[in-house]
Amino acid sequence: MVNYKELGLVNTKEMFAKAIKGGYAIPAFNFNNMEQLQAIIKAAVETKSPVILQVSKGARNYANQTLLRYMAEGAVEYAKELGCNHPEIVLHLDHGDSFELCKSCVDMGFSSVMIDGSHLPYEENVALTKKVVEYAHQYGVTVEGELGVLAGVEDEVCAEHHTYTNPEEVIDFATRTGCDSLAISIGTSHGAYKFKPEQCHVDPATGRLVPPPLAFEVLDAVMEKLPGFPIVLHGSSSVPQEEVETINKYGGKLEAAIGIPEEELRKAAKSAVCKINIDSDSRLAMTAAIREVFATKPAEFDPRKYLGPARDNMEKLYKHKIINVLGSDNKLAQLD
Ligand code: G3H
Ligand code: 13P
Ligand code: ZN
Repeated sequence: MVNYKELGLVNTKEMFAKAIKGGYAIPAFNFNNMEQLQAIIKAAVETKSPVILQVSKGARNYANQTLLRYMAEGAVEYAKELGCNHPEIVLHLDHGDSFELCKSCVDMGFSSVMIDGSHLPYEENVALTKKVVEYAHQYGVTVEGELGVLAGVEDEVCAEHHTYTNPEEVIDFATRTGCDSLAISIGTSHGAYKFKPEQCHVDPATGRLVPPPLAFEVLDAVMEKLPGFPIVLHGSSSVPQEEVETINKYGGKLEAAIGIPEEELRKAAKSAVCKINIDSDSRLAMTAAIREVFATKPAEFDPRKYLGPARDNMEKLYKHKIINVLGSDNKLAQLD
């Protein structure tokens, strides 16, 4: 059993309280490999931002759970080596789907876990989340729960079908489970295809598709029920069209890939939304850079020659998110 404090990590408690008060959100970036991790840490250090490193069950299967845990420990030292004497780094389990998985992460040194019981009947979600909270809190590990189901591209996104979070449930859920933050569903979804083209309208200025707005009325109702409670937004990639165009220019085939407009995320970040999850945008940035090298320098076969540009492109993306979308730059408690 390793406690996260021994690894130099922090939990989300103070970080979220400060973010809500300050009107900004903490970036939660997924990582599966060294290049992503390096880019995240460099971006966080250079912008003096707190950061959440997210590991999904799929990432644990892909990269090996032990290796990822040591990589996160290494990330703290790397941040210090880059000149950040007091980094604020959370190691978080993304979409934990069982008590056993959450427990395993707590025992390995994660400082935060998500238990995603959103697909379960309400009472089962409450019971499972409560069980994880009771275990995690013994070790100071913070817990994210989820209420409401994020829509898939095929789903009908409407409150009548109970895909959005029901604000009438949030007080009961937060009180009975004791969770530290709550992921809600207001129209975001995972992946690079968040909306069907027929749900969108064309922006006459750019010719690009603009998706329907997020359900801010649901967020407002949740905030009214739970004033000051930390809210999390999943599925918050914006699917930058420059990256999509680069991918397609160099042989890719991403058709009608549409994300959440940055203005909507900026607005959310100013509210009680204090954690914004971004994974797909990093995948797009990595793929675009690699495809470009493969297409323009076909004689290259040293992986550093394409993973290096991929890492640079991801770092640029992470900095942009931190500075221009989430506003978490210069928010470390100790900036020296
Ligand atoms: O929410 C999902 C995250 O983007 C992680 O995706 O399960 O493919 O690692 P993954
Ligand atoms: P995106 O697919 O929009 O990047 O969302 C990631 C996410 O929510 C991870 O939990
Ligand atoms: Zn998610």
